[in-house]
Parts: sequence; structure tokens; C-alpha cells
Amino acid sequence: MNAPTTTQAFAIESLDAAAAETALPELAEILRDCVANGASVGFMNWNTAADYERFWRDTAAGVASGQVILLIARTGDGIVGTAQLHLISKPNQPHRAEIAKVLVHSRARRQGIGEALMRRAEAIARENGRDLLVLDTDEHGAARRLYNRLGWTEAGTIPRYALMPDGADCGSTFFYKSLA
Ligand SMILES: CC(C)(COP(=O)(O)OP(=O)(O)OC[C@H]1O[C@@H](n2cnc3c(N)ncnc32)[C@H](O)[C@@H]1OP(=O)(O)O)[C@@H](O)C(=O)NCCC(=O)NCCS
Repeated sequence: MNAPTTTQAFAIESLDAAAAETALPELAEILRDCVANGASVGFMNWNTAADYERFWRDTAAGVASGQVILLIARTGDGIVGTAQLHLISKPNQPHRAEIAKVLVHSRARRQGIGEALMRRAEAIARENGRDLLVLDTDEHGAARRLYNRLGWTEAGTIPRYALMPDGADCGSTFFYKSLA
């Protein structure tokens, strides 16, 4: 585990695979909370704790393989936020990475944690020689404002790309950011 960088009352850390396994219950709770609060983040209302835990177990495997960098935000109450940086392994995209699953528990939002996770993910991308970043998000979610505020460029929105947790249609807005 890397040494934490403290910003006000929270610290951003990068977890290795063993630490990710240990953090699994807290990460599953963050995912459950985000879905319960209506975020379109790959899961539906009917998904269970076992589904969330499986997702994070797969993420830990990605961390072990070196393809995923898993960030968390920790307060005195435990882990309250997370984000992932996926280092693309295709031979023709050595300069590209994707940001995924930027999630902050509803009890810890609007304190700058999402922004801090994004800034750390961008810094780690640079350290890994990745200077083109890509992500997508629910066209109506708070994350869209966050990414615009942080200088990301909207490439466009694809209607009906995904579903909301209750089954309603959800467009996805695709963003990129050049660090070159
Ligand atoms: C999107 C998400 C990660 C943002 O997390 P967050 O920690 O609330 O993000 P921030 O605090 O950095 O910014 C959020 C807002 O708080 C404001 N803010 C930041 N620090 C603040 C502070 N100290 N006091 C008051 N407001 C503050 C920001 O200006 C921003 O305002 P805006 O939404 O009107 O633009 C969070 O809402 C979330 O988890 N949503 C559900 C999951 C999701 O959709 N994730 C995106 C998947 S790609």
C-alpha cells in the first residue's frame, strides 16, 4: 500500500491486491450505496451483495495483474470513495488509460473527495506514461459536472447506452483528456 496523502479529513491511497481483498466489504458497501442512490454504474436494483463482492474480487485480480490501479479515499470512518485507472494493454495504445468506477459514498459527497480521486488518477497516469485518458458516465449524473470542471472534453453522448438501476434508459457521455 502506498503512503497516504492527506487532504483535510481524508487521504487518497493506492491499494495493492492484498489490500484490495481486505477492503472488499467496504468497497462493496460503496457500490451498493451508489446503486441504491440511483447511479448508473454497471449494476441494477436487484443486484446483491454477492454481485458487488464479485466485482471487487475481479478488480483485485486486475490489480494483481498490474492492469488496474485501485485508489481509495479513507477517512477516520473507513473507506468512503474509490476510483480505478485501467492501463490499456493493446500494443497500439500504449499511451492510453481509462478511468472507471469513480464512486463516493453518499455520506461523504461534496467534500472534494471525487475531485481528489480524479487528480490522483491523472497523476498516476502520467507516472505510467499514459497521456490520453478516456471515461464515460451517466449523462445526467453529478460526475458529468465534475469531469467538465476538471478540464475533460466531452466527445459526445450515446442515447440508451445503459440502464439506470430501476431499468430506465440512460445515455452515456464519453469524455477524454489529453495530458500531453
Ligand atoms: C460523482 C461523484 C463521484 C462525485 O463525488 P464527490 O466526492 O461528491 O465530488 P466532489 O466533492 O469533488 O464534487 C462534487 C460537488 O461538491 C462540491 N464541493 C467540493 N468540495 C466542497 C466543499 N468543501 N463544500 C461544499 N461543496 C463542495 C463541488 O464543487 C461539486 O459541486 P457540483 O456537483 O455542483 O459541481 C459522486 O457524486 C458519486 O459517487 N456519484 C455516484 C456514482 C457515479 O455516478 N460515479 C460516476 C461514474 S463514472
